[in-house]
Amino acid sequence: MRRILSATVVVASCLIFNGLLSAQIEIRNGSIAFQNRLAIPPLLNPVAKDGVKVFDLTLRQAETEFFPGKRATTYGINGSYLGPTLRIRDGDQIRMRVTNDLGFDTTIHWHGMEIPAVMDGVYQVIKPDTTWEPSWTVRNQASTLWYHAHLMGHTGEQVYRGLAGLIVVDDANSDSLQLPRDYGVDDIPLIVQDKMFDSNGQLLYQPMTDQRAGPQGFLGDTILVNGTYGPYVQVPRGWLRLRFLNASNARRFNIGFDDGRAFYQIASDGGFLETPVKENRLVVGPASRVEILVDTTNGATVHLMSYAVSDVQHASGAFAKFIMKRLAQDKDENQVFSLLEIRPNAEPGSADPLPQRLNTISRPDVKLAVRTRSFSMDRNSKINGRKMTVSVIDQVIKKDDVEIWQLSDNSPNFHPFHVHNVQFLVVDVNGKQPDPSRQGWLDTVLVYPGDRIRLLVQFKYYSDPHHPYMFHCHILEHEDMGMMGQFVVVDRGTKPGEVSVDPAYVAEYSNPMDMGKEK
Ligand code: C2O
Ligand code: CU
Ligand code: CU
Repeated sequence: MRRILSATVVVASCLIFNGLLSAQIEIRNGSIAFQNRLAIPPLLNPVAKDGVKVFDLTLRQAETEFFPGKRATTYGINGSYLGPTLRIRDGDQIRMRVTNDLGFDTTIHWHGMEIPAVMDGVYQVIKPDTTWEPSWTVRNQASTLWYHAHLMGHTGEQVYRGLAGLIVVDDANSDSLQLPRDYGVDDIPLIVQDKMFDSNGQLLYQPMTDQRAGPQGFLGDTILVNGTYGPYVQVPRGWLRLRFLNASNARRFNIGFDDGRAFYQIASDGGFLETPVKENRLVVGPASRVEILVDTTNGATVHLMSYAVSDVQHASGAFAKFIMKRLAQDKDENQVFSLLEIRPNAEPGSADPLPQRLNTISRPDVKLAVRTRSFSMDRNSKINGRKMTVSVIDQVIKKDDVEIWQLSDNSPNFHPFHVHNVQFLVVDVNGKQPDPSRQGWLDTVLVYPGDRIRLLVQFKYYSDPHHPYMFHCHILEHEDMGMMGQFVVVDRGTKPGEVSVDPAYVAEYSNPMDMGKEK
């Protein structure tokens, strides 16, 4: 009975959504000349103060010339668009000094970090002309993380206009591995985003009114990498490491190379895979990071591409496949386009053999799980049938408990499900072992229509009965419409009556989120 019911809902939603999907957005990177040198976000040097590394970040409005002679209004962190890369180590004591010169409220969230709830950066609204100073001890293994604005109801717009940057975490393991590690030379960060510009070169973002931003969230027609349009990068000949962050609001990329060469995935969101995984294509959803190695020894120019993503193939079950087939005809993501031109120069680069072993992933036994929680993606603004409510704690989780989180998608759209303050493991996808690219640490996982994905989740470090963390869809328009919920992590002895949201938090977002109506 429940199955039939949810099937009916899917059909009904599809009929509504079908009309909205009709306008296809052609990516303009199809045939462009790659003549702009790829910008590399600068590494920010911390100030050392009593054993603490202090990073100064100043957020402001600025102008950026993405196209010659055309100045777009953008938001930047210590610059005009995006932010510097923060390089830290597991075990570091760090302090961020985040100054808001934007002229309006914002927040900064440290995506992927295991961090006390009061530093997490959703409820810690930074008022104009103030400085927020969270500090914590780094408890993440070597990985590529990121930071971005997370003001409820406005995350989509603020990230879109530039409030995002990378975090690179090192540790003893990454020190010991023979991998390219010269930042910006053979270890290249790639912050990949799709945008829409008007004829004056201004960034367009009207997800609530723009027909083209349908239920799938905002899709742009122009790709920027590190804020560079039509980018090329010159690299030594040898192993090239790419740290790929999909910082788009809603678009997936299915990466690969135009001459068909294979590459090796070495890391997912939260750290290294156990062994390199050889791939030809790799789907990277919004908010996800992957690190890949590609061999440029032959000296040939090659393009990093994005290939079509087949929803029909990804959807699970005959019914979901049938629906996706109907929708796929006009889906924007059936396009092939280049992201980056890679030009090897004459210099010899890293030629070490690939490490056979990259990491040891301590995978808790599934049998240790003390409970299963279910999360269903409902339409495009709800989880478990409801939207985020500031005063409601959706889940109370005991610190150190191993749990199964079961994700399902009852909508006709994929959803990148993200959990704060944790790196989790995928137990199975529709009863099968996840493919090797999803066998490492993740903080965001793509859930496709019809899917049933089980995660192994354990919060190891912090507890606080009054300050929640978020779980949400990382399609930023879905998130801004309330496709989010919150949880607290508590100590074993905490009683239900002792759990409540800090009234200051409720007040902060009391007149919240213009979380518009679901479209
Ligand atoms: Cu990257 Cu709650 O976000
Ligand atoms: Cu996050
Ligand atoms: Cu979503």
